Amino acid sequence: MDRKKTIIIPVLQWYSQNKRNLPWRRTVSPYRILVSEVMLQQTQVDRVISKYRNFLRQFPSIKKLATASAGDVIIAWQGLGYNRRALYLQKTATALRKEYGGRFPQDMALLKQLPGVGDYTARALLSFAFDKPVAMLDTNHRKFYSRLFHQDAIFSDRNLLEKTQELVEEILVTPTLFCDGKSMMYHWNQALMDFGAHFLVRGADFSKCPIRDFNEHFPEILGEKKKKNTIPFRQTDRYYRGRIVELLRKKKSMKTKDIAQICADIPKSRQQHIIQGLVRDGLIKKVGYSMLLP
Ligand code: ADE
Repeated sequence: MDRKKTIIIPVLQWYSQNKRNLPWRRTVSPYRILVSEVMLQQTQVDRVISKYRNFLRQFPSIKKLATASAGDVIIAWQGLGYNRRALYLQKTATALRKEYGGRFPQDMALLKQLPGVGDYTARALLSFAFDKPVAMLDTNHRKFYSRLFHQDAIFSDRNLLEKTQELVEEILVTPTLFCDGKSMMYHWNQALMDFGAHFLVRGADFSKCPIRDFNEHFPEILGEKKKKNTIPFRQTDRYYRGRIVELLRKKKSMKTKDIAQICADIPKSRQQHIIQGLVRDGLIKKVGYSMLLP
């Protein structure tokens, strides 16, 4: 454990001097934090910042979001991708009003019952809104723990969290370096986001890496190595789903022939399958031969 312990202070010190000034770090409103975390799940920080501000201007409260039309929420989600997240967010707002009088439960199991709130988001809410002593695992945390302590091996989240528990307990008893009243666990969870964006990427500059002497394989072991074998984005259903919803944001209503036009390079049967998926997910609705936002 001693070796693990030695990284806590350098990482947090680096963070205290290099942390990004992000709007969701200036609030403890669980609603705002939920909006930010849902946006950040699949979208880069730089792109999220202005979308986050605009979204909250339009839907400043749980009530405003819950009572908006689903179509307006989808329109406000423009540019973020994975449109289903917008609907989940709205369903969560509705559930919070119905079941908790518009407040958030501060309990992992209850949070995870909310639509679209998984283990990651529940932990983010507990840590960032309620400053509870929980570790979280987004991509950056996962890479950090796995590259530092497990030769980049792949574990289930539950397994990795279990393996990380000892470090977490050490963080919980580390005297604070910050003067904002928040716990070191809160800062640690935030710090790994910035550490990851800096050092756990391909081509990272390690000259200022706070843990470059951690062991003999450092710092190279930290950077991104494997190239993922993925299908080009323009060949995925998600690409076509996004194009259809994007066109509906502008055009309000479309016929099958409009869809056939933007999906001209894929077979009819796949076009049908994609439309059915969008209808099933509640992202579009069919009225006669027309398709509309809900
Ligand atoms: N990605 C997910 N949550 C984040 C946060 N709070 N700060 C920066 N990047 C994030």
